[in-house]
Amino acid sequence: MRPAFVFGTRPEIIKLAPVIRAFERRGIEPLMIHTGQHYDYEMSKIFLEELELHKIDYHLEVGSGTQAYQTGMAMIKIEEVLMKEKPDVTLVQGDTNTVLAGALASVKLKIPVAHVEAGLRSFDRTMPEEINRILADHASEVLFAPTEDAKKNLEREGIIEGVYVVGNTIVDSVLQNSEIAEKKSRILEKLGLKPKEYALLTAHRAENTDSEENLKKLVEIITSLPITVVYPVHPRTEKRLKASGLWEKLKAKEHVILTKPLGYLDFLKLQKNAKIVLTDSGGIQEESIILNVPCLTLRYNTERPETIKAGGNVLVGLEKDRVLHYVEKLLNDEEFYRRMANAKNPFGDGKAGERIAEILLDLYEKGKLRVKSSRFI
Ligand code: UD1
Ligand code: UDP
Repeated sequence: MRPAFVFGTRPEIIKLAPVIRAFERRGIEPLMIHTGQHYDYEMSKIFLEELELHKIDYHLEVGSGTQAYQTGMAMIKIEEVLMKEKPDVTLVQGDTNTVLAGALASVKLKIPVAHVEAGLRSFDRTMPEEINRILADHASEVLFAPTEDAKKNLEREGIIEGVYVVGNTIVDSVLQNSEIAEKKSRILEKLGLKPKEYALLTAHRAENTDSEENLKKLVEIITSLPITVVYPVHPRTEKRLKASGLWEKLKAKEHVILTKPLGYLDFLKLQKNAKIVLTDSGGIQEESIILNVPCLTLRYNTERPETIKAGGNVLVGLEKDRVLHYVEKLLNDEEFYRRMANAKNPFGDGKAGERIAEILLDLYEKGKLRVKSSRFI
């Protein structure tokens, strides 16, 4: 069997690496297609190097653009490769424009799509990611749901067949890399930080960065935090902050440490040793609960409600008073801190990558890995 992996952004590389490894361990060399949605060294190549994914068969160099431009260009270029290479299955991961493009190009060529991290829903259709998730799931033949809740979301939309609850591959990634990070990374020394004496913050969602009003609220929150805060800035946000003059305001604050986006090993080390994580990232909400660090999510909804139910994550939006209330509580109320930090990881045992490879190989050997005319037959 020959699987094709289509990916293009930082989180896709991190979350697909364990699946790629699982195929390699079974003697299968996958076809690797990088759309180039992320292209800066710190957003792409550093992860390929650190996770030892040295063989990329196609670099499609799609780059940035509007939603339709990016998705359309990726579709055209992916289609060309798939027509030439004719893989047996196309794997995509998550909810980016790369995922939507890969899924649509593939299924229309009758090459079955396997969606890793299927069934997540924020129930907020104003997010580009929500549209991508829904459409990718409906174009997929095999759906790897990370949790039972994700499976239920698919059932509600009539997707019953081909769904496998396997856990989230982010657990595999964290378990495979956090010890290496602990040993190799010198980021704490480099930034002059001590374990559990700082907060780690990231923000890049369109809803938080594209509106100047929300960007201002974000900066207000960061500048008011009563703890040292490390903020590795996504290029999207860096551009917006600089264009609106807010970058200088952040830089002027002594307790704010701004950095470029970090490699995975440095980021994992920072996250594991942080007192609190503040983020609008999907992957970081997941990693925090795996690493036992309380997470405050700078959004009003989440497609990872399992983290909230488990007690490791709180939605604080961009409401300064609410954010500061929870930060103070975490800093001053030991029992509350312990409860959040000890919330149970709902994303599985770190063997999702192995399960995914096993299931796909089994379907292939039984002749069941194909685009069916109906999902219900
Ligand atoms: C994308 C995904 C988002 C995911 C995130 C992971 C979509 C719709 N969004 O958001 O779901 O959480 O990746 O980080 O697919 N830029 C650079 N250099 C780069 C990449 C981007 O400068 O290497 C800048 C460009 O100005 C670009 C902007 O960032 O226009 C946004 O990039 P884009 O890939 O469109 O979306 P992300 O915000 O990265
Ligand atoms: N990450 C990283 N360096 C950073 C910020 C994030 O390595 O400077 C990792 C993080 O550990 C997580 C993933 O990138 O695994 C999350 O990516 P991002 O927040 O860009 O996307 P999302 O998960 O929201 O789609």
